[in-house]
Amino acid sequence: MFRFKKYVLLFVLAATLLAACGGAKAPAEEASCAPNCKYTDMTLCYPQLGAESDWRTANTASFKETAGEYGVRLIFSDAQQKQENQISAMRACIQQEVDVIGLPPVVEDGWDAVLTEAKNAGIPVIIVDRSVSADESLYAAHIGSDMKLEGERAAEEFNKQFPNGAKVLELSGTTGSGAAVGRAEGFRAKLNPNIEIIDSQTGNFTRAEALPVMQAFLQKYKPGVDFQGIFIHNDDMGIGAIEALKAAGVQPGDLFIVSVDGTRGGFQAMVDGWFQADVECNPLLGPQVLEMGLKLMNGETIEREVLTNETVYYPDNAADLLPSRKY
Ligand code: AHR
Repeated sequence: MFRFKKYVLLFVLAATLLAACGGAKAPAEEASCAPNCKYTDMTLCYPQLGAESDWRTANTASFKETAGEYGVRLIFSDAQQKQENQISAMRACIQQEVDVIGLPPVVEDGWDAVLTEAKNAGIPVIIVDRSVSADESLYAAHIGSDMKLEGERAAEEFNKQFPNGAKVLELSGTTGSGAAVGRAEGFRAKLNPNIEIIDSQTGNFTRAEALPVMQAFLQKYKPGVDFQGIFIHNDDMGIGAIEALKAAGVQPGDLFIVSVDGTRGGFQAMVDGWFQADVECNPLLGPQVLEMGLKLMNGETIEREVLTNETVYYPDNAADLLPSRKY
């Protein structure tokens, strides 16, 4: 009787473990062409999060151009900044048994279920650009920018400009996105205590949404009196904000404005005197992601976290650099 109970217990334990694994194939299996897979063997799924900014347009172009050049079959979709669309696109790719998924997540939370489905199907997922809060065991790697460092770099610009303190506004990116969360955190971590963030609102990383947010700020706070500077989480929102500032009679240089991305639009804003610094965020991630995808297909070891090496751009050489900017 005791023996029987022991076997029942063992069976239950084994069944529970199997259920927890979803009766799955081994995660991130190497492809059948391994170890000699070539780019022309690869189908890459890229459920792009949207087309909200010039940065995003450049990121999309980087994937399309690189896939074309390398002979990779690319399954591309545009989720229009909606997480549910990205999840549906990923599920369609899992059904099509793609080799690799590159996921630029619109927000950090809510990916566990679909990442588990990809893992159970043996499809490696590379998180691209923004981060996810899901457990690391659910995806192969992350390739993108250090968003917290970008926020810290922006704070350092304000610290240099206002050693005696100031009041600033923050125009933040998409709520809950790795880019907005990281930049806000880094900014607060490095900002001198004598610099106060008097208000922070989201402009969802778009020009169209940043414009009314800046207009509302200008109704509430007098530029140069109530605040001396603005930290803006991307160049597109910066361009939207400039429209509102111009309409309110603010002149370039009246406020100290630091933006993020380093797009051509951001460089133009520096040339025109509106931005005093632009923290780089590089969207040209296609080659790195495809290279890592091939390594995963061939069962090679990869680095789990690949952060882009970036810098800060300033107005003094913006006019010289502008013609050679790729995005
Ligand atoms: O995640 C990267 C951010 O998303 C870029 O700063 C912004 O321009 C884009 O929309």
